[in-house]
Parts: sequence; structure tokens; C-alpha cells
Amino acid sequence: MGYQEAFREVVLKPLREDTEINHEVNQYLAAYDQCRTEFSSFDHYVRMKVLGYARTLCETRALALLYSYTYMPMHMDGNKKVIEREFSTFFNPYIYQKPSNVMMIDVGCGPMTACVAIADFQQGLQPKKHLELDYMGCDLQSFMTDIARDFSSKKSTNDLFGDRFRGAYPNIKDPHWFEQMGSSVNDGGTLVFYFSYFWEQGGLTEEVGKWVDCIKSISLKARAQNTFMVYLNRDLGDSGSAYTEFKQRIQQRPGTLEVVCVEKTNQKYQSWTGLEEWITEGIYPQPRPKKKTDLHYEILRINWKHFEDAGS
Ligand SMILES: C[S@@+](CC[C@H](N)C(=O)[O-])C[C@H]1O[C@@H](n2cnc3c(N)ncnc32)[C@H](O)[C@@H]1O
Repeated sequence: MGYQEAFREVVLKPLREDTEINHEVNQYLAAYDQCRTEFSSFDHYVRMKVLGYARTLCETRALALLYSYTYMPMHMDGNKKVIEREFSTFFNPYIYQKPSNVMMIDVGCGPMTACVAIADFQQGLQPKKHLELDYMGCDLQSFMTDIARDFSSKKSTNDLFGDRFRGAYPNIKDPHWFEQMGSSVNDGGTLVFYFSYFWEQGGLTEEVGKWVDCIKSISLKARAQNTFMVYLNRDLGDSGSAYTEFKQRIQQRPGTLEVVCVEKTNQKYQSWTGLEEWITEGIYPQPRPKKKTDLHYEILRINWKHFEDAGS
């Protein structure tokens, strides 16, 4: 099963066929009916009013699925653009490396967008290059990790990931979540912290210290030879943003962060239209003509040795 089929199974079907989810979606549809003329479609209403342009925390399964329907294809395209552009510098030598020795920790993984993009991209690679990956997706919302789990479950994993994908989805509301995970990498391996459209979420300025401690602690235990972080979003954040603060704290020891690449570009993204017709009549949503949006990304190598040498 490839990505398109998995998307239908995991995201589209439950929106229409799961009674509880469908009931909630119908409530949004009824609210949209009251102000139809203000929006070009139910898709537009969901994007703006229900999901607050991807900033609303998805606190129900229906919301997490609406997020996946609305933003996952767009963010997948952002990730694929980064993979294509940085294939020879980063993704080929470090993610698709053999033998398997990669741990990817996807922070704020949502429905597992970044990893599904990496898995979908490999469809164009020779089978010997296909993923052999230890992946840990973590998110504040279990409704999101439930969808991630469905993407990585046996029924949808066959072609998308292959057999050598090992996913884990800890409950990060438990303060000991990462101690309970076997997050070590074999000697000489690669550890990647992946931040796909994460850092602009509300409340993260208060969590910067927590995430610095968290990734430092995981890294120092992991015995990886190479540690990277991958960031992508619509922008890199201004001087006071959570991401900027996060990097500054890691940089306290000069030389800790080394830039592999930093780019401002744009991406053509896929989105769908026809959610109302899907819910009410069972007509599959149609792809909208692709649009362009800004894409900023960077890949940084983290050299924690500077911290170890300084005894901190
Ligand atoms: C915009 S979505 C991005 C999801 C996915 N990475 C993608 O590219 O589509 C941001 C995700 O971060 C999660 N999130 C928000 N605040 C968080 C926090 N403090 N800790 C962990 N995850 C958080 C949200 O639940 C949501 O799934």
C-alpha cells in the first residue's frame, strides 16, 4: 500500500465512516452552514475556523483527522522538497544509510508527516536503499500519535515503509517518557531530531528549556557518531521566537551547532477540496491546483562534545 491508499484508509475513511468522528464533523458542517457565504468552501472553513491555520491543538480524534486531511499533504510536500534538495548532503548518507543505524526523533510528529514523506520518497529509490529506521514520533496529543500509529501499522506499512521500519510513540505527558524508550543508537550511528512545522505552535516559548534538556540528555546517552537536527517551516522565526531561543541555548558553548545547510525557498503544495461532498455524498475529494508557499529549512549538526568537554 502506497501513501495515497494509506491516506484514504487512515484519514478519509474514518471522517465518513466512524460514527463518533462523523458526528463531530457534521457539527462543524452545521456551523459552516450558518455562515456559508463567508467562505469559499467547507475546506476553507475548516482550515481557518476549525484548525486556526494549524495552530489549534487537536484535542479530539476528529480534529486530528481534519488536521491530517488539511495540512498533512501540504507539509509532506515541504518535507519532500527538503529531501530532494538535500538528498546528497544529508538524506542519502545519513537516513537511507545501510546497515540500519539511524534513530529519528520526530518532535511534534502529528500524524507522522515527516516520516511518511521520507517513506513515500523512497518509492523512487532502488529497494536496497529503502528505509531501515528506528523512528520515534512524539506529540502532545495522543489523537495525533494514534493516526501516526495507523500509518505505520502493518496494514498500511507494506510498501510505504517496508518491514525494517520500527516505530515507537511514547506518551510524552509522562515526565519519564524518554527514559522508558530504548533510544540508543549503535556506535557510529546517526541520531536525528526532526522538527517539521513544530516551533510556531502556541506555548513553546515556555518549553524551550525542557526541549534543550531533553535532546541533550537523549543525545549524550545515545552514543551516536553524528547528531543532527532538521527544521522546516514557513519561516525561520524572528529573533524572539521559540526556535531562535532554542538554538541560542544550545549554542551557549561556541561550536556546538554547525550549519549543514540553511535555505529559504518555496514549495508547490498539494491540497484537497470537496470535504463537504465526501462527508455528505461519499464523493472522494479532488486535488486542487498546486499552489506555492514559502519554505525555510535548515539542517544543523550538533556537537555535544563541547558540552562534555566543558563538564556541563
Ligand atoms: C503544525 S503541527 C505539525 C505536525 C507534523 N510535524 C507536520 O509536519 O505535519 C504541530 C504538532 O505539534 C504538536 N504539539 C504542539 N505543542 C506541543 C508540545 N508542547 N509538545 C509536543 N508536541 C506539541 C501538535 O499536537 C501538533 O501535532
